[in-house]
Amino acid sequence: MMERFLDAWADPQMRHAMVVHFPIVLSLVGIPFAVLAALWQATQRGRVFQWVTLATYLALTASLYVARESGHDAEDLAGPMSESGEQEMEEHEHHGHDLWQWSAVICAVAGLGFVRHRVVHIGSAWLVVVGAGLTAERIAHTADHGGRLVYEHGAAAGRDLAALIAVSTSGDTEIDPRLAHFREQVMPILVEHCLRCHNPTRKKRAGGLDQSTMAGLLAGGYSGPAIVPGRPDESLLMTAVRWADPDLQMPLNKDKLSDETIAALDTWITDGAVWEPFSYTPPAKSAR
Ligand code: HEC
Repeated sequence: MMERFLDAWADPQMRHAMVVHFPIVLSLVGIPFAVLAALWQATQRGRVFQWVTLATYLALTASLYVARESGHDAEDLAGPMSESGEQEMEEHEHHGHDLWQWSAVICAVAGLGFVRHRVVHIGSAWLVVVGAGLTAERIAHTADHGGRLVYEHGAAAGRDLAALIAVSTSGDTEIDPRLAHFREQVMPILVEHCLRCHNPTRKKRAGGLDQSTMAGLLAGGYSGPAIVPGRPDESLLMTAVRWADPDLQMPLNKDKLSDETIAALDTWITDGAVWEPFSYTPPAKSAR
């Protein structure tokens, strides 16, 4: 149990996923504490809530700082992402970056509440309430973007991807046959038959799907992930190229791919969908 926890803690993405829940909870419980401290001012109970509020925001400041630091480490592992994924990442960082400082300011103002001066005392108590509300709102925004990053853009899948690439490129002299298969067969198929429509530069990515990166495939389009590594039969991409669904026959408006081509894609997914980033330049005039 403890070992599992330490293992998870050593991984920046897991660490970030765990610590971000503290700010979410603390910022919510902080609000009623701050309100009670303000309402019951100059009473014994009010004083207790003043201390509780200060302690909550000190804890919030610390947890926001740890969340930010682990977030930076996690980002390095996020792997290649589609343009919209990168945008989401920027939003998430932008919202979360200086939150710990907001919380530190609340601590300072809450500290002023202990000054024995009526105006300072009352003013600071209500300022803390306002700050608590704004901070909670901003944290909710940050959490929303974070959730989208993981669940819609496969940000955490970058770790699996990095592991797969590491496996493929280890053993310097001989390349992994799965990587060779990707380079020689799969990538050319995607380039020739799919990427013209499913690439990130197209304004309206066909079906919302970007097939030029692994993150794009894992995040998928409007109908969900395009591939499930190891499970061709659960991969929408295979359904599409097999013409198994009359409403989803790819490549769109073209002949069905040859049996060998479909088998090559099947083998690739069965073997874990090993991937290597490559650059794709869409044809100059986007012929349809
Ligand atoms: C001529 C453009 C075009 C080409 C080429 C093309 N697609 Fe598509 N694809 C689309 C459009 C448009 C949609 C969304 C509308 C639909 O479902 O018909 C789509 C949807 C999909 C979807 C479902 C996305 C979702 O989540 O709804 C998959 C999977 C897919 N394509 C796979 C492929 C594969 C694999 C290839 C190459 C073998 C390919 N497509 C080639 C235009 C294209």
